[in-house]
Amino acid sequence: MKQITSFEQYQQEYKRSIETPEAFWSEQAEEFMWYKKWDSVLDWNFDEPNVKWFIGGKLNITENCLDRHLIQKGDQVAIVWEPNHPDAETRKITYKELHAEVCRFANVLKRNGAKKGDRICIYMPMIPELAIAVLACARIGAIHSVVFGGFSFKSLADRIQDADCAIVITADGVFRGTKDIQLKAIVDEALETCPSVKRTIVFKHIHSDIVMKKDRDVWWHDEIQFVSSDCKPEVMDSEDPLFILYTSGSTGKPKGVVHSTAGYMVSVDYTFRNVFQYKDGDIYWCTADVGWITGHSYLVYGPLLAGATTLMFEGIPTFPDAGRFWQVIDKHKVNIFYTAPTAIRSLEAMGLQYVKPYKLNSLKVLGTVGEPINEEAWHWYNENIGKKNCPIVDTYWQTETAAIMISPLAGITETKPGFATFPLPGIQPALLDEKGAELSGNNVEGRLCYKFPWPGMIRTTYGNHERCKEAYFATYKGYYFTGDGCKRDEDGYYRITGRVDDVIKVSGHLLGTAEVENAINEHPDIVESAVVGFPHDIKGWGIYAFVICENERKDVDSLKREIIQTVTKYMGAIAKPDKIQIVKGLPKTRSGKIMRRILRKIAENDFSNLGDTSTLLDPSVVEDIKAGAQ
Ligand code: WTA
Repeated sequence: MKQITSFEQYQQEYKRSIETPEAFWSEQAEEFMWYKKWDSVLDWNFDEPNVKWFIGGKLNITENCLDRHLIQKGDQVAIVWEPNHPDAETRKITYKELHAEVCRFANVLKRNGAKKGDRICIYMPMIPELAIAVLACARIGAIHSVVFGGFSFKSLADRIQDADCAIVITADGVFRGTKDIQLKAIVDEALETCPSVKRTIVFKHIHSDIVMKKDRDVWWHDEIQFVSSDCKPEVMDSEDPLFILYTSGSTGKPKGVVHSTAGYMVSVDYTFRNVFQYKDGDIYWCTADVGWITGHSYLVYGPLLAGATTLMFEGIPTFPDAGRFWQVIDKHKVNIFYTAPTAIRSLEAMGLQYVKPYKLNSLKVLGTVGEPINEEAWHWYNENIGKKNCPIVDTYWQTETAAIMISPLAGITETKPGFATFPLPGIQPALLDEKGAELSGNNVEGRLCYKFPWPGMIRTTYGNHERCKEAYFATYKGYYFTGDGCKRDEDGYYRITGRVDDVIKVSGHLLGTAEVENAINEHPDIVESAVVGFPHDIKGWGIYAFVICENERKDVDSLKREIIQTVTKYMGAIAKPDKIQIVKGLPKTRSGKIMRRILRKIAENDFSNLGDTSTLLDPSVVEDIKAGAQ
């Protein structure tokens, strides 16, 4: 496996990748199986935006994830599955078996009318069939849209409608800790408003009693009996969309980020191999759900492209107790462990008694993703999990980038706690000031942008190219804007300082404040709401909602409970507000715009510098809000 092996080599590769990006990326792309190689490497223009890589190339990504490994690694385990309950049976699926299962399910999709270019929604638990469904879509050239299993029926319906999906793949339910969640019932409710869906394919997982709708719902285990395990991969163009994944933005409606086939493959494979320094035989575990980009890129595609063994875990870190992650690491002798800072902080808070019983001596590399990691959590992770023996890769990237952008290379880059360190080869960051001027040199802080394309970058937002332009390319002309603030210190190390727009990272999940407000406003007594983030010890950021009630309600506690239930119903439990304050009015300018800056300060309990409030329509609301702040 080709990897960078020293910091000097990283520096040389970086230099080469900037001076001759086309040659650099062609070389990375050479390793794959192509039906036809590309005619030209890159065509781009950030104004439209138009980005194309490996133009004219023909391939199928599943051939590179599966068929390519069959001769040498056919009997190697591709997926290790650890169930929710520690006493339930582990599953191990070899590359040969995975190949056969993917082909079989691809034939099931075809049997049910799926064709190249169709959108297929996947709403499933963290079980191997989720990965099989994803790969089966890619095998036949259908575009998968995985929706996180924790989203509510309404969020699911919005995503199915936006992508105009014809098929939904789901399961009867999912085990999570001591609970089981009836996924199929949520799908049924969503589909009441999704006429495009003609078929649902249901995997029997928890064996609960569910209702199958005639002429619409079929069982996975029935369908699989009608098909063979031969399925020739569909020939895809480099730029054919591989998948859509919805992410939150500053408007109330999530954006369907569209990724291409070849560019995605090349970026994800390159970053997986180099960042984690995966060695043949290593057991690699990424704890992210496949419903998020981390699960797409570093649980399914990245490891399989590299011929790795990837562990998939159905459960939660605190069941049966807060030592579960560490128990799984010892049980499967995990070598590389990749998780989120919020998980580290919450397990740290539970105490070392949950870590002590485990050896953790198989670990070689630790990773984090999703939000800035605070120094304290970094040290706890380093000392108690890595035993000061495992390099920590703090990987910075986004749904839109598909792959890691700024990160140490494990064991190669000297790390600093809280710093994502340096851009990977091929990545050209720029820090801009508020006026859009690029800040040069070190010891600067600005807004993080990229000035040159990389193969895995977002191509469009599904069904609305203008929105893609608006959201990422219009703020600073000629640049892709991340929405994050960033520092470059005196040694040139990058440190992400957090979002500078109207989205909040709650436990590593990106939530648009407008989306949460829309959900709150579904409550019949709420006329208006404003949501901001506030620093939270475990979650990174918590949700603070200011709400205006139509009819004065004396039973404030039950109203708050109802608001939480409403948000859970319309968005999902991840968007539940941590604090709710009932207010008489919101600080608005004369043009009606909510001054969120003021609300953010109040939510952070910082009343010192609220700025000029005299331009507000009604400055007295601020005093009122301050008086009731929590
Ligand atoms: C944040 C997750 C600091 C950032 C892969 C980014 C991070 C957003 C880091 C994307 C990190 C991700 N350090 N912040 N290592 N990784 N972020 O789309 O704000 O769910 O813009 O992708 O997470 O979140 P998304």
